[in-house]
Amino acid sequence: MSVTVTVADLNQSAPAEEGQTVLEALLAHGIGFAYSCQAGNCGTCRCELVSGDIMEREYSEHALSADERGRGIILACRSQVWGDVVVRRLDAESFIVHPSRVLRCRVADVTALTHDILRLRMDIVSGGPFTFSAGQFASLEFAFAPGAVRDYSMASRPDEKQLEFHIRVMPSPNSVSGRLAAALKPGDMVKVSGPLGTSYLRIRHAGAMLCVAGGSGLAPIKSIVETALEDGFDQPVHLYFGARAERDVYFEAELAELQKRFRRFRAHIVLSESEGETATTLLPRRRGLVTEAVAADFAAMKGFKTYFAGPPPMVDAATALARARGVESRDIHADAFFPATTAPRQLAEMR
Ligand SMILES: Cc1cc2nc3c(=O)[nH]c(=O)nc-3n(C[C@H](O)[C@H](O)[C@H](O)COP(=O)(O)OP(=O)(O)OC[C@H]3O[C@@H](n4cnc5c(N)ncnc54)[C@H](O)[C@@H]3O)c2cc1C
Ligand code: FES
Repeated sequence: MSVTVTVADLNQSAPAEEGQTVLEALLAHGIGFAYSCQAGNCGTCRCELVSGDIMEREYSEHALSADERGRGIILACRSQVWGDVVVRRLDAESFIVHPSRVLRCRVADVTALTHDILRLRMDIVSGGPFTFSAGQFASLEFAFAPGAVRDYSMASRPDEKQLEFHIRVMPSPNSVSGRLAAALKPGDMVKVSGPLGTSYLRIRHAGAMLCVAGGSGLAPIKSIVETALEDGFDQPVHLYFGARAERDVYFEAELAELQKRFRRFRAHIVLSESEGETATTLLPRRRGLVTEAVAADFAAMKGFKTYFAGPPPMVDAATALARARGVESRDIHADAFFPATTAPRQLAEMR
């Protein structure tokens, strides 16, 4: 039986088959709606359920918190329709919308930042202008792996000309990142679709900022912190960078320099593996889990704005800690670096 999905604030409707998701129905009928992973992981497709009969498929709490669900927010990509449904997009203040672009980019350089993280810098050749907010990500498709789309967060600031990404190379040589490490070279072309994601800098926040990054999760956090400091965010900014061991640390000189320039900025490097002596370093080392260091430093975090990025277990722990120490759900912004879904992805240019 066919039912109808309506986006109230757009005043547009699409027919849907029972069991289709809200997002599938809207995209199939060319109705513009923000989305990314289509797998309940990123939260980009969050919207308000105004009325109707839906059944929700499983999703990550990073994408939609219990508190938000309690307030009638749903994920369009996870909500199957079993009757007429009306949804409303979330208000524009919570969602900055940059034009969605499909860019052709040329690799400028590929440099090792650590033993398993590469820095990829690219020039935009066509498809721009590309505007994004610090903390957002894009979907990259490489010529050596057509159809395999992977999400990577912009490490560059929005005002920089070149795009920069930090890519962790998975141990498997068959992984997209493993093949990338072996094959990608200056001059290669890469398709970049975006920007995507809602875990971006809210510069008008009136309280302190806490950023926690694990591994290549430093990419979006770098962009957020640099943008906030350069653009005059005048509250304290605390950055905690969690890495396993000394060989996983990068961006230290830049963090030390930022600390010198901005007195309101403090960076902490926290190593989870306690073995091994560290030679003299620019920033002191702390030991343990990165979230343990945060917990030791802040008994209360009421009024904080928080940004977390990196491995899902770290993002989970940081989110739980922030909630327990009084951070409001609306002030917790997180990108958990889930591996890509095996579900087929619709690229922006096909919409
Ligand atoms: C919103 C978002 C932003 C992201 N931003 C970044 C970023 O800035 N930098 C970055 O490095 N990554 C980022 N990721 C993760 C990235 O998109 C890849 O999915 C991830 O790095 C997997 O790498 P791959 O594509 O090479 O592996 P695949 O080709 O998907 O997998 C190949 C093999 O590796 C295994 N594998 C995949 N992930 C892991 C893992 N974490 N540990 C062990 N084995 C694994 C798979 O099971 C498979 O066997 C982001 C993810 C999301 C959702
Ligand atoms: S959670 Fe729906 S598109 Fe990612």
